[in-house]
Amino acid sequence: MTEDVSRRGFLKTAGIAVAAGAITGTAAQTQEPPATGRKIRIIGLACSPRKGKTTAAAVQVALEAAAGVSPDIQTELIELAGMNIPVFDPVNPNKGDFTSLEPKLADAAVAGFIIGTPVYFSGMSSLCKAFIDQCMVFRKNNFALKNKVAGVVAVGGVRNGGQELAIESVQAALMCQEMIVVGDGSPTAHTGATVLNDGQDDISGDEFGLNTVRNLGRRVAEVAVRMAR
Ligand SMILES: Cc1cc2nc3c(=O)[nH]c(=O)nc-3n(C[C@H](O)[C@H](O)[C@H](O)COP(=O)(O)O)c2cc1C
Repeated sequence: MTEDVSRRGFLKTAGIAVAAGAITGTAAQTQEPPATGRKIRIIGLACSPRKGKTTAAAVQVALEAAAGVSPDIQTELIELAGMNIPVFDPVNPNKGDFTSLEPKLADAAVAGFIIGTPVYFSGMSSLCKAFIDQCMVFRKNNFALKNKVAGVVAVGGVRNGGQELAIESVQAALMCQEMIVVGDGSPTAHTGATVLNDGQDDISGDEFGLNTVRNLGRRVAEVAVRMAR
């Protein structure tokens, strides 16, 4: 953001950001170190119970932007839809399908995550919360997610429907894992990617939201590359 923090200056900056992003999609790209050939993995996690819908679509856009930062980056989209991620129960522990995710997420080659959640009543989805609670195992296992970079995408059915609240609640949990939490990078540069489902399960018309998604993907990748090297 510029030093002009008046409302007019703020809106002017955002307007320029939208226009520039729409044309180039890379308005604020930073210089990255040259490729080394060592693969850096970034995993996208879509935490909607609905497979292939708007949250998955937004996370995929972020992953594509992340992949553009360096040829060393490899991306993978994991959808929790259809997986059995049980509510965390300390009395009767049951990991369900989380067991198969565990080694994948803790892999040292994984440097970054893009976590997408639908907005449910101004917060994250219950599936997202169940996933985050199951991540307790990493905290207990020498903080296995420590120093991995994470950015958050939230998709709602309403503009200002709670996207930022959902993002911040996910971020707060990730900080308990000593992860490095980042927002959407410049030029939008706020807490994360805030996306609008137009009511027809389509996000393609939300150009501002998609710019935050791309900026988030790039930001996660930029920091992941620096951490990995
Ligand atoms: C239980 C429930 C609660 C919801 N609450 C909100 C809400 O508070 N704010 C909002 O903007 N959208 C809300 N929505 C709409 C979803 O966030 C929106 O449809 C989103 O795109 C769904 O993600 P998906 O397409 O990946 O399943 C809610 C949907 C459901 C099913």
